Amino acid sequence: MTQAPKGTKDILPDRVYRWTFVENAFRETCRRYGFSEIRTPVFEYTELFSRGVGASTDIVEKQMYSFNDYDGRSLTLRPEGTASVARAFLEHKLYADPQPSKYAYEISCFRHERPQKGRQREFHQFGVEYLGSSDMLADAEVIALAADFLADIGVKSPSLRVNSIGCTACRGGHRDALRAFLLPKKDELCDTCKDRFDKNPMRILDCKSPVCQELIKGAPLMLDYICDECAEAFESLKKNLNALGVAFEVDAGIVRGLDYYTKTAFEFVSSAIGAQGAVCGGGRYDRLIEELGGPAVPGVGFGLGIERLLLLMDAEDACIPLPAGADAYIVFMGEEARAAGLSLLKDLRSRGLRAEMDGPAHSLKGQFKRADRLGARCAVVIGEDELRAKEFVIKDMVSGEQRRVGRADAASAILREFSGIHG
Ligand code: HAM
Repeated sequence: MTQAPKGTKDILPDRVYRWTFVENAFRETCRRYGFSEIRTPVFEYTELFSRGVGASTDIVEKQMYSFNDYDGRSLTLRPEGTASVARAFLEHKLYADPQPSKYAYEISCFRHERPQKGRQREFHQFGVEYLGSSDMLADAEVIALAADFLADIGVKSPSLRVNSIGCTACRGGHRDALRAFLLPKKDELCDTCKDRFDKNPMRILDCKSPVCQELIKGAPLMLDYICDECAEAFESLKKNLNALGVAFEVDAGIVRGLDYYTKTAFEFVSSAIGAQGAVCGGGRYDRLIEELGGPAVPGVGFGLGIERLLLLMDAEDACIPLPAGADAYIVFMGEEARAAGLSLLKDLRSRGLRAEMDGPAHSLKGQFKRADRLGARCAVVIGEDELRAKEFVIKDMVSGEQRRVGRADAASAILREFSGIHG
């Protein structure tokens, strides 16, 4: 009862500044690329994900947190963000606006997976969705946004891998070739993959079981089967990425774990954080909106795992500025000094400073220790002598220098000398 559920993590105050740092940076990158924030509900009707993400995916088959609500409808905690954005786009007829539409989000996601480093049951994603353009410029822009963001926050190791997984027109040929390749080994596949063999053999390429991994070595690659239109699109993507100066390698092994993808598939992968090295994954989904009952609106986007990103920043020792400490800490002795302290506290805060004071009063030494722990730039000392003289002592906590200041001038002096705010 006093433990967080398996696969979830508290984010405690001593780590939150790391989250805020990447959140602010992501917002800023999205602003530069013209993506607007969208917020959707934490849960959706279950059918949205079974239709959108795909009934034969691991996510839908065995990872969804689904439950019946009191009205008897099956709801699911979102396992990802794309289906929800597509649903909102349809529900609010946003396709009627001039296109394209560019959305960005930060969400918690829920998948019942076996927890390990970089894999949780509740995790968080940054994501973007670029809807209404079939031009490969959109794919390149989305990829460049992720690359820029990673570079901006000083993350170096992930390499970008791109692939084309074709469209409905060319996938049939690959599916037949894959079945023909796997048929002699079908009995050796894991139970899930035996099932996938009939339903959706491409999913087998994504199986994590070491036995299946071994069996698929040398399997036919989608990239060798793509139609002329998909091949042309892939060439155009590569050209656009080169023109934008985004480094990449082609990795024909990328299949992605969700069914809505067509053409472009990509991942940013790092070996610095263990087995779960995919920090960011995405691709094009030209049939999703139609699949959900809407008009034919193409789309492309990515999801970037925030926990994995922060693990990577730890592993790379990336520089995250520490949060600023308090500007002033008020040290007082006695009841009368407490009242004077509170009045100064109010004054300092109203001027935008972070000022702190604690009660009940500890020893003088104890209060200075606390000022140190809070990283206070200065301490204001109020004792009997100071009250009598209508003065405060201001101590610079870095140099140790002390001086007396008239009570009425104390707040302005602190603002000027210790806050970095100039007013
Ligand atoms: P995804 O590859 O399933 O794609 O997830 C994107 C990212 O979320 C992964 O690269 C990883 O960093 C993180 N992630 C996934 N599962 C976990 C987990 N259990 N624990 C921690 N982090 C995890 C999608 O979700 C698509 N909606 C991306 C997309 C957007 N495609 C087009 N638009």
